[in-house]
Amino acid sequence: MNKERLSKKIAPESTLRLKQGFNIFFDNNHNTVFLAPNKEVVVRGISEVIPKIIPLFKDGNTIREITSSLKDYDENSLLELVNVLLEQGIIEGSRLPPVSKTFHDFSKWGHYRAPYLTDKEVAELTYRDKFKRYIEAEQVPLPRRLKKIKKSFTNIITTRKSQRIYSGSPIGVNELSTILYLSRGITSTIYLRREDKKSLGLPNTRPIDKALRLHRNIVPSAGALYPIEVYLAVFNVKGIEKGLYHYYPVGNLLEKIKVGDFRKELTKCFITDETVQSANLIFLMTAVFDRNQMKYGERGYRYILFEAGHIAQNVYLVSNAMDIGAVALGGFNDDLLNDFLEIDGEEESAVYSVVIGKN
Ligand SMILES: Cc1cc2nc3c(=O)[nH]c(=O)nc-3n(C[C@H](O)[C@H](O)[C@H](O)COP(=O)(O)O)c2cc1C
Repeated sequence: MNKERLSKKIAPESTLRLKQGFNIFFDNNHNTVFLAPNKEVVVRGISEVIPKIIPLFKDGNTIREITSSLKDYDENSLLELVNVLLEQGIIEGSRLPPVSKTFHDFSKWGHYRAPYLTDKEVAELTYRDKFKRYIEAEQVPLPRRLKKIKKSFTNIITTRKSQRIYSGSPIGVNELSTILYLSRGITSTIYLRREDKKSLGLPNTRPIDKALRLHRNIVPSAGALYPIEVYLAVFNVKGIEKGLYHYYPVGNLLEKIKVGDFRKELTKCFITDETVQSANLIFLMTAVFDRNQMKYGERGYRYILFEAGHIAQNVYLVSNAMDIGAVALGGFNDDLLNDFLEIDGEEESAVYSVVIGKN
């Protein structure tokens, strides 16, 4: 279907509807007259198809559904007719694809129903250890000392760019550690004060109750709930075996999930496959939806994706500041990537990624 032919005002997946208040007549010259209380539109020479297409508008069909229901008619002529009816204001369609529109509307402030939580429940969600652990996995500690960055802040921000082809030289473990820490690291740990615990009805356990602490992070997070998990597919990092790792920010360490050269497997997951071929590693982000949506419900889905964006921007900036290339990749096969990460795609699912490669 030639989508360009469809009016720019609506999304091709949106449903088309007849506007209210129009009566439809046919004149002796086979023209169709659309008559509303303060509007009259004459559309020439289309009377034959009108009785067939109008019910489809009443049921709210997409342009694709309309053209496949009316197979006896030339597709381009139908698109032309739909465009005329749209331009004349006889039918209307959403500018947003229907699921996006529904999601956007249902997640608007005031429309969505956030789960009702007491202050105590919110505190319990916030002041607890949230990040995933691979307890059985081999731990790979990362150097704590960050790579010195000499460029100015303004220079780093204004020269950020996407890069898709890399030199093939290895990345150092300290460069990797710097990227990880400055995009997902912990900056401070906050404990609930004794008086706050008391007023919330939470136990004041001693020594300091580890379950009631909050690891603040490099990037902002709605409600400090940190729903994003970070994984690395390592292909070419000095001192780190090729394989899949999970970053545990609290310990600033990697947990080794599986060892091997997964470049081929990952190339199949991404649309921009040539980028994966020369990359040193892929920074993979997943969302553990519940961690956020227990508090924010439908609206939380927006917040989760924002957070992935915050992290990705830091990955870009820190990489570029060290003369390392990066490109955000949103074009991936979700199911393949979730399978690779050994996650279920429901409770936890891949949301975003950044490919990183040495210049
Ligand atoms: C959400 C998002 C998804 C993206 N997905 C892809 C992708 O799948 N493949 C790709 O080559 N680039 C992807 N990019 C990179 C953009 O193409 C790139 O940012 C854009 O061309 C602007 O160039 P710049 O980053 O150099 O300023 C993505 C960027 C964003 C923000």
